[in-house]
Amino acid sequence: MSVGINGIGVYLPDKVLTNADLEKIVDTSDDWIVTRTGINERRIVDDSVTVSDLAAKAGLMAIEDAKIDPNDVDLVVVATGSPEMIWPSTACLAQAKMNLSGSAAFDLQAACTSFIYGLTVADGLLSSGTFQNILLIGAETITRLVNWQDRNTCVLFGDGAGAFLLRKSEPGFGILSSYLAADGNRADMLKIPAGGSGQICSQKVVDENLQTIHMKGSDVFRFAVKALPESVEKALAKAGLAIDDVDHFIPHQANQRIIEAAVERLGLPIEKVATNISKYGNTSAASIPLVLEELYRAKSLRRGDILVLAAFGAGLTWGAVVIRWGGANGLN
Ligand code: UT7
Repeated sequence: MSVGINGIGVYLPDKVLTNADLEKIVDTSDDWIVTRTGINERRIVDDSVTVSDLAAKAGLMAIEDAKIDPNDVDLVVVATGSPEMIWPSTACLAQAKMNLSGSAAFDLQAACTSFIYGLTVADGLLSSGTFQNILLIGAETITRLVNWQDRNTCVLFGDGAGAFLLRKSEPGFGILSSYLAADGNRADMLKIPAGGSGQICSQKVVDENLQTIHMKGSDVFRFAVKALPESVEKALAKAGLAIDDVDHFIPHQANQRIIEAAVERLGLPIEKVATNISKYGNTSAASIPLVLEELYRAKSLRRGDILVLAAFGAGLTWGAVVIRWGGANGLN
């Protein structure tokens, strides 16, 4: 049995934070940010908005796009590294906002790789027949977890959400293979040290900004330029495909230089690489559906096209999914 994408939805907050805005907050420059990251601006939520609001908006759009009865959604999975609270899950909060009370709901946390992990989990649950219609949403209000005094991190991130409605597809189409990996020995490279049960909120936590993102940027960079190509090669091999078979590479949008270095290692023509990092920055678990949706709306995806989606992030985690676009239940 094959599992395919039947509907896609996205939501981005209206408020734009430009590099010029950041120049007023920290010691940085538009030139540094553009040259080192490829980011020109990012979206940022208002104080009144939460991550389940973003998730619900993207999720409802995906259900509408799939033209299915909302009551037929039997599982909501929210992939996020910026959950609204420890519990209840953001998936439960979004489920209520979408009026999908007949469904099961849970969060999946693999930081920026969460959406790739989510696709793999959804593929397994649909293939086994446990569920028929899974709404997988990557949603982040990650700017809430940024230290706005830390120029190493605050320029990188943005908020947003993207969702796929996944269900059975025509054999040979949809998800062909996936590769997932993790190395907890390198957990220290990228983390939010406090706010969980290991170090609960306290005055000390706030004074030392331990509730915000701490990152060894160049170590993560070195890891990422290897992890992305490795993920792509392993996932393609599992599908019995080669790099020349790839029509669209949809990488996690963390840094334009990481993407270019990975693409060079893979020997993939740059025209096959989809990016929107200049507009949205690193939206963590939301970045891959946000890019794929742009290709879909632009009608750039043809029946039979091979797509490779790949990501890396805290954990460390990394992985990729190979998809053959289209199919009887597919989108084109
Ligand atoms: O989703 C996964 C999450 N994270 C990532 O993927 C991030 C991976 N890492 C990166 O993207 C890059 O390492 C960064 C963009 C974070 C940094 O770029 P870099 O080329 O590795 O710079 P660097 O950390 O080696 O820093 C070079 C210089 C330093 O100054 P000195 O020590 O040479 O004087 C930094 O202090 O750039 C300085 N710097 C900045 N300058 C202006 C760091 N951030 C900034 C900034 N504006 N925002």
